[in-house]
Amino acid sequence: MNDELKADRAPAANAMWGGRFAGGPDAVMEAINPSIGFDRRFYAQDIDASIAHAEMLAAQGIITAEDGDAIRQGLEQIRGEIERGDFTFSTALEDIHMNVEARLKAIIGEPAGRLHTGRSRNDQVATDFKLWVRQAIDGLEDGLRDLQAALLDQAENEAATLMPGYTHLQAAQPVTFGYHLLAYVEMFGRDRSRFADARKRLNECPLGAAALAGTSFPIDRQRTAKALGFDRPTANGLDSVSDRDFAMEFLAAGSILAVHLSRFAEEVVIWCSPGFGFIQLSDAFTTGSSIMPQKRNPDAAELVRGKAGRVIGSLIALITMMKGLPLAFNKDMQEDKEPLFDAADTLRLCVAATAGMVRDLRTERPAMLAATQAGFLTATDLADWLVRRLEMPFREAHHVTGALVALAERQGCRLDELALSDMQAVEPRLTDDIYQALAVESSVASRQSQGGTAPARVLEAVTAARRRFLEG
Ligand code: ARG
Repeated sequence: MNDELKADRAPAANAMWGGRFAGGPDAVMEAINPSIGFDRRFYAQDIDASIAHAEMLAAQGIITAEDGDAIRQGLEQIRGEIERGDFTFSTALEDIHMNVEARLKAIIGEPAGRLHTGRSRNDQVATDFKLWVRQAIDGLEDGLRDLQAALLDQAENEAATLMPGYTHLQAAQPVTFGYHLLAYVEMFGRDRSRFADARKRLNECPLGAAALAGTSFPIDRQRTAKALGFDRPTANGLDSVSDRDFAMEFLAAGSILAVHLSRFAEEVVIWCSPGFGFIQLSDAFTTGSSIMPQKRNPDAAELVRGKAGRVIGSLIALITMMKGLPLAFNKDMQEDKEPLFDAADTLRLCVAATAGMVRDLRTERPAMLAATQAGFLTATDLADWLVRRLEMPFREAHHVTGALVALAERQGCRLDELALSDMQAVEPRLTDDIYQALAVESSVASRQSQGGTAPARVLEAVTAARRRFLEG
C-alpha cells in the first residue's frame, strides 16, 4: 500500500496543531512519524466511528443538527472517494484520522472543525482498531467453520480408512484417517472459542474517553457504543486509550491457530512424501520442480507450516512493544497495527489454503493399510487379549507380548504370521482366536470407548461435531 502513497510535502506548520508550531518536521521525522501507509486500512471503521460520534454530538445538542448532517454527508462522500480510489492520502497528515478530517474540511468547510469536539485521536484509534480486529475475528470465524466443515466431510468419507497412529512418529496403534482428521476439528473448535472469547472481552467502546481523562462535554457514550455494535462503553478513560489487550489476545489466539495449522500442514507434507504415500494432492495445491520432472511438491502445505513463524513473530513484536509502557497513549502504540494486519491476512490465507487442501486431498488406502501391517501395531491388542481371556495382570501381559514381538522380529514376520505352536511356547494358554485380535480391522473396531477410533464412533463423532460446530 505504501507505494500508492502520494507523499506531498508538509506545510510549514501542521494544520491540526499549528497553533503553537512555527516550523515543519524534519525529513526523517516525516519518514518515521506517519501511519497512513497502514492505518488507511481502517478507513471504513474510522468513518463509521466519526459518524456515530457526530450523530451523538448533534443528538446531545453539542453541535447543531445541520452541522451533524453536513459532517455525516461529507464523511459518506469521503468513504466513496476512498472506495473508488479517488482519495489522495497525505503522509504530511500523518494518519487516517487527520486525512479524513482534512478532507472533510475541504468538502464541508467550517463544521468539519466541530467533529473533534469531545474526542481525541487516542480514543479514536482505539475504537477504529477494535472495530477492525472485531471484523477480522468474524472473518476468521467463518474461515474456521468452513475448514471444520471440510474436515468433517473427509472424516465421514474416511471413517473406516485404516492407517497407523503414531507416537514419536513411530507407528503405535492402528487408527482411521477420519479419526485423525477429527483431532483437528477439535483443535480448530478451540481456536474458534478462543477468538469468540477475545471478541466478547474486546466489545467495549473506548470512544468518549477522549485523550485520557474523559471530556467536559455532555456526551452520551451509551449511544455511540450502541451505534457501533459494542456491548457497552469502556469503564475507565485511561484504560480505554492505553489498552491493546484485544490486539494481543487476537495475536495470541492467532498464534495458537497458526501452530495448529502448521502441525496439520506438516502432516500433509509427511503423508504426501513418497516414503508414506498416504495421500495425494492435485495440481491445484502442488507445484512441480523446474529441474526434476518427477516431482510434485506440497508447497501450499509447506507455506502454511512456514507462515506460523510470521504470526508468532507478530505476537512477539506487539507484546514486546507494549511491555513497560506507562499509561496512557504512547506513540509506540502506533506500532501495533502492521504486525496485526499481517497476522490477520496470513491467518485468513492459511485457513483458506488448509480448507482447500483438505477438500483436494485423496487418500491412498492401500498404502495406508500396508503401513499398518509393519511395526506390530496390534501388540497392545494382544496384551489386552491376555488380560481379558487369561485374567493376566496388564504388566505381565505386556511382558509376554514383548516376548512374542521379539519372536516375530527374529522370524522376520508379523505377529499374525507366527505359528500358534511358536506362540504357545511363550504362553501355553494362547488359543487360535488370538489371530482375530491381531487383525488391524478388529483392533480398530474394538476401540469403542468414548472418543475412540472405532469407525462407528468416528461416524457418531462426525454427527456430533457437525451439531456442535456447524449448526447455529
Ligand atoms: N496514528 C496514531 C496511531 O496509529 C493515532 C493516535 C495518535 N495519537 C496521538 N496522540 N499522537 O496510534
